[in-house]
Amino acid sequence: MAYWVYILRCADGTLYTGTAADIDKRAAVHNRGKGAKYTRSRLPVEVVYREACPDKGAALRREYAIKQLSRRDKLALIASYEGKLGSHMKKSAFIGTGNMGGALIQAACQAIGADQVIITNRSTAKAQALADSCGCTVAADNIAAVQEAKYVFLCVKPQVMEGVVKELAPVLQGKPDTVLVSIAAGLQIATLRQWLGLPNPILRVMPNTPASIGMGMLALTGEADTKEEHYQAVETILSKAGRVDRITENQMDAFSAVAGCGPAFVYPFIEALADGGVKVGLPRKQAMAYAAQMVLGSAALVLESGKHPGQLKDEVCSPGGSTIAGVAALEAHAFRSAAIEAVEAAYHRNVELGKV
Ligand SMILES: NC(=O)c1ccc[n+]([C@@H]2O[C@H](COP(=O)([O-])OP(=O)(O)OC[C@H]3O[C@@H](n4cnc5c(N)ncnc54)[C@H](OP(=O)(O)O)[C@@H]3O)[C@@H](O)[C@H]2O)c1
Repeated sequence: MAYWVYILRCADGTLYTGTAADIDKRAAVHNRGKGAKYTRSRLPVEVVYREACPDKGAALRREYAIKQLSRRDKLALIASYEGKLGSHMKKSAFIGTGNMGGALIQAACQAIGADQVIITNRSTAKAQALADSCGCTVAADNIAAVQEAKYVFLCVKPQVMEGVVKELAPVLQGKPDTVLVSIAAGLQIATLRQWLGLPNPILRVMPNTPASIGMGMLALTGEADTKEEHYQAVETILSKAGRVDRITENQMDAFSAVAGCGPAFVYPFIEALADGGVKVGLPRKQAMAYAAQMVLGSAALVLESGKHPGQLKDEVCSPGGSTIAGVAALEAHAFRSAAIEAVEAAYHRNVELGKV
């Protein structure tokens, strides 16, 4: 996975160069005043430059080189990056404005500007309603959308994907640089390529429903020869949908069992915690809010502290206390084993569905 060099523009215009595994997360830490002494008094910051490096060592060396540049040269670097971004971002088309397509379209409009986003849907009224709310453009049909776009996100159900890809093939024949990005669960790049019958780059993204509020966990995969530029463009277009991680295609089914199906494992847990709260005397609405906020905060603590969840659990359990009594009750009902089996069952079903 790439390690990044970034430049932040602070509220007073000064430029700060740093390195990070996840720039957006790092920028959020700066914006909480905890990134660096230098940015603390110059908030808020905005990421104006990103460059992927093969590893942390390379990123640190590149950071040092950028820090040696004059302000004028740094501004030139940023301008060239923004120029490239503008040109490779030019027009992203989204085919299918349903639940997931709609969520990604909203994120793309925020990330690259609604004027760069063209959408189509089988029933035009649905696309028009979305365009009215986020300011993007509705194309006359799928072909018209693709004619203008550099990146084409295929957001239809897997069972209609073959028809859509074959419909687009004639127009893509004259546009070999147009990149296809499928979000369909289970459909392999090899299958999409067979339907397309053309060498256009194809990537796959697996989002989850929290992407609709910018808190998704998305996986991105490509082929052995997928260009870095294409990965980076898709990461930028989807950056407002949540965290985007690159994985290999053979990890997609496992990723999707954890992060794609996972929300449906967590919701019953939140509901059950709230039921418990009601049972011991809390009003339903409060119990639900407390349970959901607790899950949100606990997840954030795992990610931000970098501590093992077992350690965080140990830190909450005092000897002979109430928390360890609750943990023991969960263990008695094989809570962790149930979660492991849920992921395993979802994984096997993903593999099965992918064979159809
Ligand atoms: N929902 C999730 O949690 C999730 C997670 C990961 C991946 N995905 C993937 O996301 C994709 C979309 O799922 P979804 O849940 O968003 O489904 P959805 O709500 O049914 O959306 C699919 C959309 O595609 C449109 N459509 C169908 N045929 C079309 C065509 N020929 N041309 C243009 N538009 C067409 C449909 O239009 P109409 O309005 O006319 O029906 C509908 O709006 C699927 O491949 C799924 O595997 C979904």
